[in-house]
Amino acid sequence: MRILHCSDPHFDLSLRTIPLRKWFGKRAVGALNLLGGRGSYFDDADSKIGDLARFAERYGVDLTLCTGDFTALGLRSELEEAAELIAPLATDPSRFLALPGNHDIYAHDVIHTDSFNEFFARFMHNDWPQYAVDDPWPIVRLLGEHGAIVAVNSAKPNPLPWRSDGRIPHEQIEALRRILADPRLRGRWIFVATHYAARLADGRPDTPNHGLRNADELLDACRSIEKGAILNGHIHRCYRIDLSSEGLAIPLYCAGSVTMEGRECFWLFDMHPDRLEVHRGSYDTQAREYRIESFEEIRR
Ligand SMILES: [Fe+2]
Ligand SMILES: [Fe+2]
Repeated sequence: MRILHCSDPHFDLSLRTIPLRKWFGKRAVGALNLLGGRGSYFDDADSKIGDLARFAERYGVDLTLCTGDFTALGLRSELEEAAELIAPLATDPSRFLALPGNHDIYAHDVIHTDSFNEFFARFMHNDWPQYAVDDPWPIVRLLGEHGAIVAVNSAKPNPLPWRSDGRIPHEQIEALRRILADPRLRGRWIFVATHYAARLADGRPDTPNHGLRNADELLDACRSIEKGAILNGHIHRCYRIDLSSEGLAIPLYCAGSVTMEGRECFWLFDMHPDRLEVHRGSYDTQAREYRIESFEEIRR
């Protein structure tokens, strides 16, 4: 079974189409950040997703996981368009799983209108809804007979412009522990997915205002996992870190950004009963195609 893990497409909805009356508060700061150069890195995000869909087709990907930040400002109109733009990757929604990032729920009104769930619910099917405590989280997606994804939501509104931190609600962590103890998961490769990075590429926690506030709580819950990985985005660079020094048997993979110019990357996991082959993907700008570049094998 082949799983593609990508993140942070940050579709560049033309700022022309964003109603001016929406440019207030934090969103104005976000818009200015984008106009100040950051946005140009994501100019081709929508066409690159088409290129990624061709890659997924060519390589026979069974399930694509995207760990959030589909948009820039989290406006309702952006989320609606982002859900359409992701469609080439999700022609069969049962083979696609979407998680929100902080940019997708930038401000309180998005939460109150529930726009992410409105447009992305079809990409958030839960195989074990009986464990959901924070509708619809955690989401469990079984991967054939040998694996499972357990997704928790770490994105939350950050009304203060200088903060972009995340937190997984305690009840989701407790539900995650109960799911991991379910005997039906025994022997499976377990992938715990969320938007925020529990650790940076150097193994240290992110800063309080940018990172996962309760990263240690997440890592503690994952100590019971014998084989698998923690998968996240948010940091716009692909990296893998070993967590054995922290008492975890599983590594962490950050999928960076699949569309950010010059840094495009993703992970591809080939899951077998007794081994996991991990490939890192990159983008060839000239050929306009995604490719596989490195390889690693984990046996368990
Ligand atoms: Fe991002
Ligand atoms: Fe993010």
